[in-house]
Amino acid sequence: MKVNVVLGLQWGDEGKGKIVDVLTPAYSVIARFQGGPNAGHSLEFDNKKFVLHTIPSGIFHNNVTNIIGSGVVIDPVILMEEINGLKQLGVPVEQRLLIAKRAHLILPTHRIIDAASEAAKGETKIGSTLKGIGPAYMDKIIRHGLRVGDILSPAFRDRYETLKQKHIDYLKQFDYTCPIDDYEQQWLTCIDVLRTFPLIESEWVLNKYLSESQKILAEGAQGSLLDIDFGSYPYVTSSNTVCAGACTGLGIAPGKIGDVYGIFKAYCTRVGSGPFPTELANETGERIRHTGREFGATTGRPRRTGWLDMVALKYAVLISGVTHLIMTKADVLDSFESIQVAVAYHIQGQVTRQLPFEIDKPIEPVYKTFKGWNRPIANIRKEGELPVELMNYVRFIEEETGVPVKIISVGPDREQTIMRS
Ligand code: GDP
Ligand code: IMO
Ligand code: MG
Repeated sequence: MKVNVVLGLQWGDEGKGKIVDVLTPAYSVIARFQGGPNAGHSLEFDNKKFVLHTIPSGIFHNNVTNIIGSGVVIDPVILMEEINGLKQLGVPVEQRLLIAKRAHLILPTHRIIDAASEAAKGETKIGSTLKGIGPAYMDKIIRHGLRVGDILSPAFRDRYETLKQKHIDYLKQFDYTCPIDDYEQQWLTCIDVLRTFPLIESEWVLNKYLSESQKILAEGAQGSLLDIDFGSYPYVTSSNTVCAGACTGLGIAPGKIGDVYGIFKAYCTRVGSGPFPTELANETGERIRHTGREFGATTGRPRRTGWLDMVALKYAVLISGVTHLIMTKADVLDSFESIQVAVAYHIQGQVTRQLPFEIDKPIEPVYKTFKGWNRPIANIRKEGELPVELMNYVRFIEEETGVPVKIISVGPDREQTIMRS
């Protein structure tokens, strides 16, 4: 038995939450492998909408174990808000959720460092979600971090105070004051609640499940172009969002990775700063934003919008060894007469089809134009009923990437999903 993986192939918000929820009935375990509350994964069913930040998107299903894996960074306050929200909806979270002891904690001071360092960057700010993600991963890498398992130690409070003091000293370089007292009190209370949850050695648990032939789906956060190593650095997040992140974030050997499902929107969006070669800073972009309701699920910020970028998509497919593609939000393009796709970049007199090291240089995308389908597809449930123009678009993407598009999503609801044979 192998672990299948769901990944975003663009700059996040591709629809991972919806797709994981749709795929969950075929699995007994859903495991989040990286990121933290910077993520916002939306799910819709029965005319209700839910947004998850830290909790895996299989949580609404019976008889499914959801694991927050060791590669995740956890803010206990946000996690408890999520848990309480789910409990109010009648979801028995305690019976369905396991949390890795190796996952690192986001401290109140991590959030302040995030805000202070973004403010100090001015124009060059990353556009972080300000959830303390970068500083928490920084402490993990420089080996100062506190892990979930540490909260069981009698020395936890002392270790917390020591790290907090390091942060206060570090913050002296910034002209930034921010009292943490209220948030800290809440944080410490949530740590007490976290102690009552099953805290596990997730690498052992997951590998045991594998040996019992249980079906496991690994859920990624963010997108491949936000990967710390292969994204548009430094305008990235602080974890490995590519497939390899599932191995390091869960303790799964590379040979135990099975199918890799790569999700992409029929166009592109990006929230926060950084290069975006096919960005449409015009009326067309505004039309996509409006029709696609492109506003951040975590921060509410308007998302930048643009045409599909095959150069970037092919790169993401390559880095993660994507075996199946999933296209979302095709319905957002319903009313467009024509649709454009970048097939190459024109950079300083040269044409390339390979994503270059620096994508912040002036890039002129080379576009291929497709005829739009010009009719609503949100109510279609059968592949054979999809417009021929949309299928031409899909076939082109398959030919360019060499990977089949297995699912076409035509709306935010669970039901608005077409599985291709
Ligand atoms: P995630 O971070 O990858 O889980 O994606 P988000 O939840 O942040 O953003 C995706 C948004 O698009 C959410 O509001 C979803 O409800 C919505 N969505 C997902 N799939 C589709 C689709 O096929 N069509 C439309 N119109 N909306 C979709
Ligand atoms: P999901 O899982 C879209 C972006 C931020 C910023 C950069 C760094 O919902 O797809 P960070 O808070 O990680 O330091 O921010 O990454 N970003 C996301 N953009 N979707 C996300 O998650 C994101 N998580 C982080 O906007 O540009
Ligand atoms: Mg999102």
